[in-house]
Amino acid sequence: MTNYDIRKDFKIIENNKIAYLDSGATTQKPTQVIDAIRHYYESDNANPHRGAYKLSIKATEVYDEAREKVQKFINAKKPENVVFTRNATESLNLIAYSYGLNNIKEGDKIVLSIMEHHSNLVPWQNVCKKTGATLEYMYVNSEGTLDEEEINKKIVPGVKIVGITQVSNVLGTINPVKEIVKKAHEVGAIAVVDASQSAPHIKVDVQDLDADFLAFSGHKMLSPLGIGVLYGKENLLEKMPPFLFGGDMIEYVYEQDTTYAPVPTKFEAGTQNVEGAVGLGAAIDYLNNVKMENVEKIEKELMKYAMDELSKLDFVTIYGPRDLSKHAGVISFNVNKVHPHDVASILDSENVCIRSGNHCAQPLLRYMGLDSTCRASFYIYNTKEDVDRLIDALYKTKKTFEKWM
Ligand code: ALA
Repeated sequence: MTNYDIRKDFKIIENNKIAYLDSGATTQKPTQVIDAIRHYYESDNANPHRGAYKLSIKATEVYDEAREKVQKFINAKKPENVVFTRNATESLNLIAYSYGLNNIKEGDKIVLSIMEHHSNLVPWQNVCKKTGATLEYMYVNSEGTLDEEEINKKIVPGVKIVGITQVSNVLGTINPVKEIVKKAHEVGAIAVVDASQSAPHIKVDVQDLDADFLAFSGHKMLSPLGIGVLYGKENLLEKMPPFLFGGDMIEYVYEQDTTYAPVPTKFEAGTQNVEGAVGLGAAIDYLNNVKMENVEKIEKELMKYAMDELSKLDFVTIYGPRDLSKHAGVISFNVNKVHPHDVASILDSENVCIRSGNHCAQPLLRYMGLDSTCRASFYIYNTKEDVDRLIDALYKTKKTFEKWM
């Protein structure tokens, strides 16, 4: 199956005649996912876990099936390791509030990579402020990767939590997560992996990584908005208190006290997003059908082509690793002396969609001495022609701004 075959399933691209290069922000959805959601509402919709009638039982079944699909997709031991959330941000907040605030104390250290998205950074700042723990960072080298020396210098006894993104949403850097998790465990810390930019693109195996927690969003991997995943090791999830309180997460409620439902229901208060779970399940079916090896192959070829073509532009500066074995399908760049928002507007006039700004990673950009960048991010429906359109539109940008360059 090629990217040209896959593209036919994404009507929005043809309907808008766009080169959609912003999948790092959110992906487009294939017909199969949209159809699965339509089918759910036309055949299976009711409130799960609450009704004794057939339709409610059906809604519960499809919700549970989706959880099993996620479990297999990330190779978790049990479906109970998978908690549905709204998105990766909520998953990471759940860990910070429920695990962090209850296990971190004054004097402890939390170590993050400077590449973290605000979602895996601001919640930990909050934990540090509330507990008196300190926050430290592993900084990138000039290539935008983490040196082993830096990892060993920062992950030392006293560190209790290590937060690491598997793929940087700005630089595309693929981090050595397995080694970082191992190092975290050696010093007695737990590892929190942000897989938002990796789970859609490369095979993620939580048991192989030995991650304690891992988070990602459905909408960055073909599924609808509003559904996310928190993976957690059973022994950790079991001991953690609920993050949200209310309907369905309970066992017995008395006037003054409550006992809680077992994991994962304990963490899923309120009416569940069955539509989102069904959509995520259909997205996983779609990716399994394409095969993750093929997803990686398509993106690698595109990245090589994009990197080669962008490198030919002497008015463009590229950030992040040049070694493509350490680089996923995200490229940050700037057009010299032109603000990224202006670049993005000119590209938009050519129907080329990229993201511009700080990409919710202000500490990284500040560390690199930048305010903002342009970012093109690829997925399985992109083709070489999309890259060509990006390059042509960048020439147009140069022409427009030439007299100021
Ligand atoms: N986290 C998303 C991005 O990197 C929104 O664009």
